Amino acid sequence: MSKITLAESEERARYLRDQLNRFGYEYYVLDAPTVSDQEYDQLYHELVAIETAYPELIVSESPTQRVGGKLLSGFEKVAHDVPMLSLGNAFSLEDLENFDQRIRKLTDKPFTYTCELKIDGLAISLKYEKGIFKRGATRGDGTIGEEITQNLRTIKAIPLRLREPVTFEVRGECYMPKSAFAKLNEDRDEKGLEIFANPRNAAAGSIRQLDSKITAGRNLNVFLYGAANFDELAVKTQSELLTKLSEIGLRTNTLRQECETIEEVWAFIEAMREKRLTLPYDIDGVVIKVDDFATQEEIGYTVKAPRWAIAYKFPAEEQETILRDIEWTVGRTGVVTPTAIMDPVFIAGSTVQRASLHNVDLVKEKDVRIGDTVLIHKAGDIIPEIISVNLDKRSEDSEPYTIPTNCPACDSHLAHLEDEVALRCLNPQCPAQMKEGLSHFVSRNAMNITGLGVRVVSQMYEKGLVKDVAGLYTLTMDDLLQLDKIKEKSANNILSAIDKSRENSLERLIFGLGIRNVGAKAAKMLAEEFETIERLMAASKEDIDAIEGFGETIADSVVQFFALPEVAVLIEEFRENGVNLIYKGPKKAAVIENDSIWQGKTVVLTGKLTTYTRPEATEMIERLGGKVTGSVSKNTDWLIAGEDAGSKLTKAQSLNIPVWTEAEMVRHLESSGTNENE
Ligand code: IVH
Repeated sequence: MSKITLAESEERARYLRDQLNRFGYEYYVLDAPTVSDQEYDQLYHELVAIETAYPELIVSESPTQRVGGKLLSGFEKVAHDVPMLSLGNAFSLEDLENFDQRIRKLTDKPFTYTCELKIDGLAISLKYEKGIFKRGATRGDGTIGEEITQNLRTIKAIPLRLREPVTFEVRGECYMPKSAFAKLNEDRDEKGLEIFANPRNAAAGSIRQLDSKITAGRNLNVFLYGAANFDELAVKTQSELLTKLSEIGLRTNTLRQECETIEEVWAFIEAMREKRLTLPYDIDGVVIKVDDFATQEEIGYTVKAPRWAIAYKFPAEEQETILRDIEWTVGRTGVVTPTAIMDPVFIAGSTVQRASLHNVDLVKEKDVRIGDTVLIHKAGDIIPEIISVNLDKRSEDSEPYTIPTNCPACDSHLAHLEDEVALRCLNPQCPAQMKEGLSHFVSRNAMNITGLGVRVVSQMYEKGLVKDVAGLYTLTMDDLLQLDKIKEKSANNILSAIDKSRENSLERLIFGLGIRNVGAKAAKMLAEEFETIERLMAASKEDIDAIEGFGETIADSVVQFFALPEVAVLIEEFRENGVNLIYKGPKKAAVIENDSIWQGKTVVLTGKLTTYTRPEATEMIERLGGKVTGSVSKNTDWLIAGEDAGSKLTKAQSLNIPVWTEAEMVRHLESSGTNENE
């Protein structure tokens, strides 16, 4: 190629950018590409070559400038100029009829509805200034979101420059296509990484990456469906808005329909229910909006949501498959749990092959048999469960399932205790129970010894390196080097993690011991109350029962546990090996009665927290007068959602419960501690 001048290059670069933007528009928005990938790549590389020769020609909206930028250390908070509201939910035709009647009372004018697919991803907002993409944010709590511009720039369907130089904010849903989700999970599974439960979680995890190169590799996509501060667009209805968005280069979903009546709305919903499984992306319902903006304003808003729109949610998906086997596993307390192994089926966004059957009584009650056709769904759209057996499809020679009589791990006789639904292995030396007990002891909320996954723990036990949990504290380098794949470096890490755990406050040890009915919260209360292991061991049933919120069941379990002679030996071993047996946290009387914002609030924590562990966050919230509960209900004041939050988040959103990010929680915890006036 003969060398071209700067002026010539400038003109050529502009031409190439325009061409590439047009091809992108045709591909992503019109869904009608006019060039092959090869032709596109050729022009793209030519542009890269020019920009490499003349870096001064690079503009931020060049298609070459999607990936890059710096590695972030966190996300900035941004306040939305116009709040991002949520929607009320409808689950039946009746709910929709009520909605229709309700809003018709609020306006005299006749109106129509626009029905759109409810894309199952996460809401985003994009700011364009004079047609240039300037800033993108997550919805956050609706008022304050997180700035994720750099990551959004990697999504090719988001134009860096619009086809008109307009200034406004556009809103929509960022999602992961089903195919990208399947491939991502396959890759992660191969690498031994945790898999995402569904495309929505995968999209949420991908958009919150600090390294935008990772986001770029995740194949995210968007549909835009709303706007704020959009006077410039000069549109009067939702359907005009969607047409306009698409004209200026923004990707909208074409599966939408204007409807005069709720009957027509219902027909659209039914059609989409059918279509749903064939779509390349997940939808969880249909959003119904009053089409005319002036009428929308007349109908108005509640604090959290517009009155002029509603989200119809599909009921959970169901699928039939064949039961091939029932696998029985022994838990830490000897409970033997059945798991159904089935032919794989794709359901509610992921492939399912296993489902918990919960307990032996349920297996009997459902009369499930190997070879049966079973109907499965995902509870809360996440946990696979067998709903029923299709008896019409049962083969004539099918035989009732034979419940095992012996432990799959130690072969000892299984007991079905009278007041229990479960089968139990009563052998305290059962290797499966011992391994589970070890895994529990080292887990995050217990002694938090990192580097000891299930496989390592299991081998340690099998090789006789540890016989009980106290045995971890006598492990040597030589012991660890006997384990598969453990070299000096990881052995050192394990030893120092074990060493560090010696300093843990007492509640971690109490929880780690795995006393029946004593969870992390009860363990903390016991440590707070008795302060040393000696005093706890000496406590009577009455002493324990007297703790607020405790009952006889916990008191009995604790007393029985510490009465066992082998437990006394175990505690002595901890002591000899330098494990701390004293409570180090704040004293019980230190509950601060103040006017912190946490006072009297009920909150739920979900997802992965990174700044504090869950028990730490719980403790801080409780000290500030709040209450932490395990499940979301209408009594929940706030849901605090860490990374990869799942069904609790969905539930909170459906109940319109405010959702906080972890960073918001930290900010409120830390400011409540220092500034009592907040
Ligand atoms: S409109 C004020 N339209 O559903 C109206 N939302 O439950 C705000 N969603 O937070 C939303 N597809 O994340 C609207 N076509 C659609 C949608 C949609 C998905 C999500 C969105 C919103 C949630 C409300």
